[in-house]
Amino acid sequence: MPPQLVKILNDSYQAVKNDGQDVIAGLTKNPKTLPPKYFYDDYGSELFEQICALPEYYPTRTETSILKEYANEISELTGSRELVELGSGSSTKTRLLLDAYQKIGNSFTYIPTDVSGGILKTSVLELQEKYPYFSIQGLLGTYQQTLAYLESTPKALRTICFLGSSAGNFSPQEFDNLLTKVTRSLQPGNYFLLGIDLDKSQEILEPAYNDSEGVTAAFNLNMLSHLNWRFQGNFDLDVFNHKAIYNQAESQIEMRLYCQENVTFSLETLDLKVNFQAGESIMTEISRKFDLGILQTKLEAKELKLKKVWTDPKKWFGLILCQA
Ligand code: TRP
Repeated sequence: MPPQLVKILNDSYQAVKNDGQDVIAGLTKNPKTLPPKYFYDDYGSELFEQICALPEYYPTRTETSILKEYANEISELTGSRELVELGSGSSTKTRLLLDAYQKIGNSFTYIPTDVSGGILKTSVLELQEKYPYFSIQGLLGTYQQTLAYLESTPKALRTICFLGSSAGNFSPQEFDNLLTKVTRSLQPGNYFLLGIDLDKSQEILEPAYNDSEGVTAAFNLNMLSHLNWRFQGNFDLDVFNHKAIYNQAESQIEMRLYCQENVTFSLETLDLKVNFQAGESIMTEISRKFDLGILQTKLEAKELKLKKVWTDPKKWFGLILCQA
């Protein structure tokens, strides 16, 4: 791998020593929580790719169908020469956008960014082969590190995209902070393309996060094995059960791991012991489901002006293009 293809951002995530304050904070809280970024070690990213292909998990398919239909319109509307993607994973859907940008000219830079080095390196190599005239520059780091870096680089003709409803994995306050940083990483006239899951019935939502093959359960539990290898932990995965419920009042899926026993686990390099009562849970993720009108107000408050919104015929998913 030529080193310039993936730039590793000044990364506490790489160096175990300074890392994990967020884990300590989450596991010493009541009720316990863990930050969703710990889903995505290399194995977790693989499992997530499998989730995206599950029959119950409609968001990826639906967003892909919207991109298929409107990618050309997006490339023409924006006329961008640089596309940054936050949390790019395998960049599978994004190829629809890259194909569209390829039609409108040669010099183009795609900057996929992710916390998983394995999937990022593989997809950068694949993309470089598929789009030989593009400059492909991976950034390995968290959203915060990526946006801090982007803020300091030239921003001309830039679009930042944030797909897959990952925005829904933030609390409203965290999402607000993220939008502030997105705006700072854009110059006036630049674009922000946001893919978000829209509110819908519990009967559709809950199976999407409790699939019948148990892939989502494996994905959720993998967070504990990630903590085990990263922080020399001894979490016993057999003692935990996955469950996702839809909290209607908050319009959010809440995903938890339930501990079945009274037990103590430790994370050695964090010098942390965690006690569990039987039945106690760790909340590993929320996935908020949005109302387009409310979201539009929020974006405009961050100086991201709504340019166009696309949805699928059932209005299950929304793709929003804003201009800074
Ligand atoms: N952004 C995705 C979502 O909220 C992430 C996701 C999908 C996810 N399925 C999951 C996270 C299952 C954890 C577990 O839909």
